[in-house]
Amino acid sequence: MYLEKIKIRNFRNYLSVDVSLSPQINILYGNNGQGKTNFLEAVSFLTLGRSFRAKRDEELIKKGENGFYLKGEFQNQEELLVLEVGSDLNRLLVKVNGVVYKKKKDLFGRVRIVIFTPDDLQIVKGGPEKRREYLDLYLAQTYPGYRKAYRSFYRALYQRNSLLKRMRVGFRDLTQLEIWTNKVVEEGSLVIYYRLKAVEAISPWINRYHQMMSGAKEELHCFYRFSGGKQPLPTLESIKEEYKKIFSQKRKEEIKRGYTLVGPHRDDLVLLLNKKWELRTYGSQGQQRTAALAMKMAMVDLIENTYGIPPLLLLDDVFSEFDNKRKKELLHLLTEGTQTIISTTEAVDFPVLRPEIKSLKVESGVIFD
Ligand SMILES: Nc1ncnc2c1ncn2[C@@H]1O[C@H](COP(=O)(O)OP(=O)(O)OP(=O)(O)O)[C@@H](O)[C@H]1O
Ligand SMILES: [Mg+2]
Repeated sequence: MYLEKIKIRNFRNYLSVDVSLSPQINILYGNNGQGKTNFLEAVSFLTLGRSFRAKRDEELIKKGENGFYLKGEFQNQEELLVLEVGSDLNRLLVKVNGVVYKKKKDLFGRVRIVIFTPDDLQIVKGGPEKRREYLDLYLAQTYPGYRKAYRSFYRALYQRNSLLKRMRVGFRDLTQLEIWTNKVVEEGSLVIYYRLKAVEAISPWINRYHQMMSGAKEELHCFYRFSGGKQPLPTLESIKEEYKKIFSQKRKEEIKRGYTLVGPHRDDLVLLLNKKWELRTYGSQGQQRTAALAMKMAMVDLIENTYGIPPLLLLDDVFSEFDNKRKKELLHLLTEGTQTIISTTEAVDFPVLRPEIKSLKVESGVIFD
């Protein structure tokens, strides 16, 4: 699957742009503030149904205009997939192969993408919620059941928490509590199951990418940390059993505190160097950045191994903190079969390194082939 053509209208600093891309490596280069990240944002909006940085869609509309419109033509073997999205202040347009849909989220999952931005350093450095978001975005694109389980879990969690909050101030309804506990266990265990399965698969790949990019010998281990203490075995039955047990042990404490103490909403992903040092606290900035990128590259493999088709890979400003050796390593890692769009401020002579690279120059919202 690859993005063959994109049409951008009144989006960020783009007035009207039509670009054809290479199915292999595309490099967007230009000075700061010219529209490189905006371009990647347009691609992510079309494929995820949302921006990776804007909180509100209004921010995306070109200043002084009333609405934006994006259209992407994707090639999948012989088939063409056309995604369209447009938004103005009071109307939304979503189309898939010309058929109208109601919501932006209807765009999600039709074209899978992996995106790396400088903010992704937070996956390693930031709090557990950043690592959960990382898992959630990519597992939703990998396992068809994940998104549903995840949503049902959060809905049940919300109900269970509001009940616990009432119980905290004297309300008693143990039957209701049991109903919501069962629901949370049911859906939450499925979420944990997918996460354990994915982490088991990606952990060695993260290590391999990390070693290849950094040239380091140190081992990077990644494992899922269940907030309930004892790590369950990666089978659905064992997870359910463990999760249920924890709830019966914690019932008093949960009522006292008024919220759910254990589950996917509090779990974490731990990254250890040489089995001892937590990367989050001991890693250098460079190590952390390389690890964050390795974590994204591993998701490319997970999606490709699951579907037989690699996702689109968007790398925003990935070269900025890497030395030349790492840059070269990274370019070697990118495979021909994976369409990649890289943004950079440097006018490096990339085609010398890889002849199949297509370079696009970005200047004030205009893209030159
Ligand atoms: N809604 C909008 N309407 C018009 N221009 C906008 C809008 N939102 C952002 N911009 C402009 O887009 C430009 C930033 O674009 P972008 O973030 O893509 O830059 P970049 O090329 O990635 O730069 P850098 O190398 O610094 O990351 C800024 O000049 C900003 O003013
Ligand atoms: Mg940028």
